[in-house]
Formats: sequence, structure tokens, C-alpha cells
Amino acid sequence: MSTAPLLDLVAREHPAFVHIPLGLIAVLPVAMLASFHPRHIRLWTGTSFFLALAGWLGSTVALVSGLLWGRQIALIPPTAYFPAMASQKQVLQRILQVHELAAVSGFFIGGFCLWLLWRAWRRLDAPEGAGHRRRGGRRFWERGVGAGPLLLGILWLSCWGLSGKLGGIMVFGNEETNRAAAEADAAKRADVEADLPIRALDYASLEPLGSEPAPSKAHGNRWQRIWITASGIDAYRAEKPLPPGAYAVLSTFEDRKGKPSHEPGPLYMREVKADGSAAFTFYWPRVPEALRGEVGGQDSVYWRSPDPHLAACLGCHGKGGPAPAP
Ligand code: HEC
Repeated sequence: MSTAPLLDLVAREHPAFVHIPLGLIAVLPVAMLASFHPRHIRLWTGTSFFLALAGWLGSTVALVSGLLWGRQIALIPPTAYFPAMASQKQVLQRILQVHELAAVSGFFIGGFCLWLLWRAWRRLDAPEGAGHRRRGGRRFWERGVGAGPLLLGILWLSCWGLSGKLGGIMVFGNEETNRAAAEADAAKRADVEADLPIRALDYASLEPLGSEPAPSKAHGNRWQRIWITASGIDAYRAEKPLPPGAYAVLSTFEDRKGKPSHEPGPLYMREVKADGSAAFTFYWPRVPEALRGEVGGQDSVYWRSPDPHLAACLGCHGKGGPAPAP
């Protein structure tokens, strides 16, 4: 992804400059409280307004940079605003969702608070009379910025405090994120097909269905051969669902003028897991330049369920059942 160097900097320094708005909003309630002092109403109401203004404007940069950063490190999909969650195990994504919600809530609460502060400040500058009819008789909670904005300011700080705390956890880790990282690591080590679909590549050891490549419209107009595990071949021939643990591999050749060429196409695999659910693999180790449009421009592809690219497979193949008649 090529972004301008300045945008890169804005994105990467997100953890650094979020502290500016957060710091301003952390002292805001103190300035607001000071405005209740009868002799400093004007000074501290004005100060509160400018603190809030600077904090709120600064936070717009923080929000944008957070979004850019999240997209850069692929926690947030390129055109989305929130992380995609495929499972509850994605601890980082879960934390990021709450982090973003808290930040955005703070932004809106802050905007409202800022508007009230502006009104309170303007009221002080209004000519005697209009807004000052009850000047002498103002109750305590109506003095200075007033109790409403003070409560909003505290709420604003709470939202950003929560957001900042979660941000810190995402950057520095805590027990849960560290454990999740360790688990993911261990799972990857135990997953022998993490880098290569070993069983699909060994398709020639399975039972072939027929002896000639046949044309397949469903898989990109290629020529295909179907290979099925011995445990599933009878069920497949009888057009019944494959039993748990069985799988089918589709080896392909690209088409050349209506005939199979010697150019190998992608390998497709459909598997029935022990729990009966379907899993898919799509492996295309070297994508010829002319065909890269099919896979978003990539020169090599290895997708496995639950990769979202494989949603189309499930669309046709349903839940573990046999493929629909072509
Ligand atoms: C347009 C519908 C369609 C889509 C999309 C599709 N398939 Fe298929 N698939 C079929 C049909 C129909 C067959 C039966 C053989 C044939 O006609 O090609 C089949 C056969 C297969 C087979 C071999 C036999 C079997 O029944 O399992 C595998 C393996 C397979 N597909 C995997 C995939 C994978 C992986 C994807 C996603 C990358 C996919 N398919 C997408 C329709 C589809």
C-alpha cells in the first residue's frame, strides 16, 4: 500500500499524539471546577472552553490516524472503519472494537460539551441584562460553566480514559493478548498445513473419478479432475454427502482454445470436518500474469477456510453436502 510519507507518519505516531487531546481533557474537569469560584468565573470558563476546543480538534487527528494505522497493519479492512471479527478468539480485534467505540463516543460527548462551554462563555460576555437576570441569585451549580458541562466533561474523560487504557493494552499487551498470541503461535506450529496444503498437493494418492480432464464452468472454465479419499469415494459415487474426515480435491488445467493445456491451474479442496462442517482450500502457487485479475492481482494464493475469499465456495457447495448438479 502506498500512502504519502506524511500520512504514514500520522498513522504510525498514533500512540504518541493521542496523549495531547487526552492530556487536555484530563485537566478540563479541574478548570471547569475552578470556574465555580465566584471571583474567577470568567477566566476559568474561558480556559475550559479553549482546553476543550484544543482537545476536541486534536482528537480529530487522533481518530483519523488511528483509522489509518489500523488499516496499515491490517487490523481494519482497507475500506472499513471497524475490525472484522471472524471469531471470539480474535482478542486484539475485540479490544480494538471497544477502543474505537469509546473514542468515538468521547468525540460526540466532547462535541456537545464544547458547544455548551461556548454558550456559557458567550453568556458571560453578553451585555448586562439579557442572560444575567438572575446573576445575584444564581445557584451554585449554575455558576461558571455549570454542572451539566462539568458532568459531560467527566464522561468525556471517562470514554477517552477507557479508550486509552485499551490502546495501551493493544500496544504493550496484557495477559489476555499475550496468551492469545502464544495460543495462535502454538496452533500454527501444530498446523502442518499452515504454509502448504499438503493433503491437496498429494491428490494423486487419492481415488480418481474418471480418467480424463473434464470441462468445469463452476471453477473458472478450467479442465478438472476430481480425486476423493477412499473413505468417501462410495458415498460420492452414490451422490451422498462425504463422511466426516473425507475430502475431495479438484486438480485443474487451464483451457487453451477449448482443450486442456499443460498449464496447471489452481488446486481446489473440499473437506468435511469431524463435526460435519465444510472447509475449503484454494491453492494457486504461481498465478500466470494474465490471470491475476481473478485473484485481486496476487501472484501466488493460498486461501483456507475461514478466509472470506472462499465464501463463494460455500455458496455452491452448501454445508458438507455433495456439489449441486452442474
Ligand atoms: C458456481 C458454483 C461453484 C463454485 C463457486 C465452486 N464450486 Fe466446487 N463444484 C461445483 C460443482 C457443480 C462441482 C461438481 C463438478 C463440476 O461440475 O465441476 C464442484 C466440484 C468441486 C470439487 C470436487 C468434487 C466435490 O464435490 O467436492 C471440489 C474439491 C470443489 N468443487 C471445491 C471448490 C472450492 C474450493 C471452491 C471455492 C474456491 C469451489 N469449489 C467453488 C460448483 C462450484
